[in-house]
Amino acid sequence: MEKAWWKESVVYQIYPRSFKDSNGDGIGDLNGITEKLDYLKELGIDVIWLSPVYQSPNDDNGYDISDYRKIMTEFGTMEDFDRMLAAAHDRGIKIVMDLVVNHTSDEHPWFVESRKSKDNPYRDYYIWRPAKDGKEPNNWGSCFSGSAWKYDPETEMYFLHLFSKKQPDLNWDNPKVRDEVYDMMNWWLDKGVDGFRMDVISLISKDPDFPDGKPGINGYASFNEPANGPHVHEYLQEMRRRVLDGRDTLTVGECSGVTLEEAKKYARNDGRELNMVFQFEHMDVDADGSNKWSDKKMDLRDLKEIMTKWEKGLEDTAWNSLFWENHDQPRSVSRFGNDDGKYREKSAKMLATCLHMMQGTPYVYQGEELGMTNVPFRDISDFRDLDSINAYHELVGQGVFTEEEMMRYLRYKSRDNARTPFQWDDSENAGFTTGTPWIMVNPNYTEINAAEQMGRADSVFNYYKELIRLRKTNDVIVYGTYELLLPDDKELYVYERRLGEKKLLVICNFYGNNRKFTLPEGWDSDRLSVMIGNYSDAQPAAEMDIRPYEAVVLEAED
Ligand code: NOJ
Repeated sequence: MEKAWWKESVVYQIYPRSFKDSNGDGIGDLNGITEKLDYLKELGIDVIWLSPVYQSPNDDNGYDISDYRKIMTEFGTMEDFDRMLAAAHDRGIKIVMDLVVNHTSDEHPWFVESRKSKDNPYRDYYIWRPAKDGKEPNNWGSCFSGSAWKYDPETEMYFLHLFSKKQPDLNWDNPKVRDEVYDMMNWWLDKGVDGFRMDVISLISKDPDFPDGKPGINGYASFNEPANGPHVHEYLQEMRRRVLDGRDTLTVGECSGVTLEEAKKYARNDGRELNMVFQFEHMDVDADGSNKWSDKKMDLRDLKEIMTKWEKGLEDTAWNSLFWENHDQPRSVSRFGNDDGKYREKSAKMLATCLHMMQGTPYVYQGEELGMTNVPFRDISDFRDLDSINAYHELVGQGVFTEEEMMRYLRYKSRDNARTPFQWDDSENAGFTTGTPWIMVNPNYTEINAAEQMGRADSVFNYYKELIRLRKTNDVIVYGTYELLLPDDKELYVYERRLGEKKLLVICNFYGNNRKFTLPEGWDSDRLSVMIGNYSDAQPAAEMDIRPYEAVVLEAED
């Protein structure tokens, strides 16, 4: 397998609004990030993925961009950006930007022009369609509730918005749009940024027939309906030629609705499109059919099947991204682990072990390295995320769920669980801001915070640090093959990694029961050592007692 720095890296995602506020306005900012680069250096990560920092009216916290070449006022200035980039590079940390080009803000000058008249030069920058039988052109739903089409009285036509009404979809079939995007990407790369995480890039090419899709619980088809459209690979290959060829970047595509076969095209080893993809199948493991709003717990066997499908499916042909969390998902320790107190740290470390020992590039979402948890939101007024707020009103309004049910689901699944301020220390507002935070602080910050964990050898933070260090010194973790063992076990996730003579056995208990585990054939306890584990006294043995939420990685030479 070909080696590459981005295969050997660990990426850390920063959601700037919630990371660190340097000027007391209650909103995180770029100078706050610069202040905390030494923290990230200490953790050992190689790359920062920065969620959007561009000028934006913030309907969707920066994923609605009104100027791709300006910094959002609340986050600082371009000088602050340049200083942050230089300071990161000084520490050997790369910065990857969020590239949000499936859509812009409706306040972007292109859209302001586009909606003015049917013959405006910018009309074709967006997707306009006439009414069908007096209604929307098709039944596609927005990701954030309701139809994906909005009627514009000015020209009596509908425009497409797969996300909010303030996020109109760009028309990628228009070569001028593609030129604008490539110019803008080149501009940022010339500035020195190290790559892009491409927002919903699998959705950019729409089927010109706009066929109806299967309706979900709110009556609309999924926003993912246009995924992997007719020209998506052609456009990404064009982007590679016009922007990325000859530059040493990290590119990762957020590919909602991607299949394994499609992922092999996006992230194929021949480097014609992207380095790697985010797939989301494992994020649906606890959905209720196609409906994410539920508090159903996953069946570990399903998770193992999905993870293994992607590990084996991309091995040798493409490259995987590994994540349990990002700014669109709840906290993994509350979702797949146990945030009850007694086992919070153990289960956070177990989840980290399980993920970081797989093949692929691991992504750590801010606060995951502390085992930050979901948030005890009191009522709907505590939420800031338009997805959560719209879904609450739509589904309660339609009588699909009661208020109590919906609040339960939001507490479990809302994106705002990941968006509360980073917990730096036990001072007021978790040390995030001296002002009033834009969203509530999780009250458990007095117990869960970076300052406490950095000073304690057995903390979740220090465990992550060790996992990241191990990846740098053990090729088998990066490049080894993956084999699942015990696929039918409901509590243990066990897999092997192999590279040449080296082999690892990764044993993770996802539940609170004590379990017996027999070493598989070919593994001799006398020749094994513990590489890392979340119980300090773990020992290899032919018959092992695996404790609640235990994770242990055994290492051997064949
Ligand atoms: C995916 C992003 O991760 C999410 O936060 C955003 O709301 C949508 N794309 C729209 O840009």
